[in-house]
Amino acid sequence: MTAALREAPTVAHTRILAMGAARGENVVPNDDIVGPIDSSDEWIRQRTGMITRVRANKETTAITLATEAAREAVAKAGIDPAEIGAVLIATISNPKQTPSAAAIVADAIGATPAAAYDLNAACAGYCYGIAQADALIRAGAAKYAVVVGAEKLSDIIDPTDRSISFLLADGAGAAVVGPSDVPGVSATQWGSDGSKAALVGMNATLTEFRDGEHEWPTLRQEGPSVYRWAVTDMVKVARKTLEEAGIEPADLAAFVPHQANGRIIDEFAKQLGLPESVVIARDIETTGNTSAGSIPLATHRLLEEHPELSGGLSLQIGFGAGLVYAAQVVVLP
Ligand SMILES: CC(C)(COP(=O)(O)OP(=O)(O)OC[C@H]1O[C@@H](n2cnc3c(N)ncnc32)[C@H](O)[C@@H]1OP(=O)(O)O)[C@@H](O)C(=O)NCCC(=O)NCCS
Repeated sequence: MTAALREAPTVAHTRILAMGAARGENVVPNDDIVGPIDSSDEWIRQRTGMITRVRANKETTAITLATEAAREAVAKAGIDPAEIGAVLIATISNPKQTPSAAAIVADAIGATPAAAYDLNAACAGYCYGIAQADALIRAGAAKYAVVVGAEKLSDIIDPTDRSISFLLADGAGAAVVGPSDVPGVSATQWGSDGSKAALVGMNATLTEFRDGEHEWPTLRQEGPSVYRWAVTDMVKVARKTLEEAGIEPADLAAFVPHQANGRIIDEFAKQLGLPESVVIARDIETTGNTSAGSIPLATHRLLEEHPELSGGLSLQIGFGAGLVYAAQVVVLP
């Protein structure tokens, strides 16, 4: 007879214990980037709500930013790094494909020998990471997990590209997830639609670059199509997330959508019928779009500017290249 396997110890609930953030060192105003795209400060402010974006120095990498953000989150959580069982880094801009950024960051924060891996879910990456951390901890695969969204997108932009480059920025946001007596992360609503892969992504492969068939690959998007997808399909996902969490818009303390465009954020707020009491993240205005970094960076900032939000409910939704999306309601640390 086959021996019965021992049941793994599980926990019922998880929550975010603390967060950390690191932004690119340089503040880049619209006027500094409008020349090569024949745009203007006024156009960018009107169409996107952006005033500046943050971009990192040459020697700063997605790994540097991730390490700084993760260190802050772990210190604030007050946990022993040796108790971290998993380090997950969501990124699309680590220029070295292997080893993973996560393994290097795990070592840098003293989380060895935690399981460590990167995940590529573009602007939904952080919410994918939170979904995984929640599941791993509940399943007993880790006691604590560190989730980081980290990007140095300025390495994959083309200053002459009008479609997306002017929106993009560098930064990392981190969360420590751990066991909880009460639910602190709701059921994640996530998914993908690869039939729309051509709407956002890199404009060439590394092998095409190697073979001289294309210049250095950079990001592109079909802006209006992505915009329509966000304000129709993604609003439905946000609504379903609230329903599945068993709450109403008025129960939220904060709303932190992916920081892609101020107009998309306004449209979400209107369609969801968010009352005035809900604080809405608008980090896009000065930080820009940091893809996987955007939701944790925006949340970290909200908690600094509005400490009273601590313990309140936040709806977060990430969406982008894939296309992919993920959303959940979390209790703010
Ligand atoms: C990229 C984005 C800001 C463009 O704004 P838009 O209002 O859709 O702009 P359009 O592409 O419809 O172009 C409108 C006009 O502005 C012009 N334009 C486009 N980009 C421009 C730019 N960067 N600067 C100045 N003018 C620009 C167009 O040529 C067009 O001119 P026309 O009316 O004379 O033809 C917007 O589509 C967007 O934010 N999309 C979604 C982003 C997103 O959610 N991404 C998620 C993945 S990260």
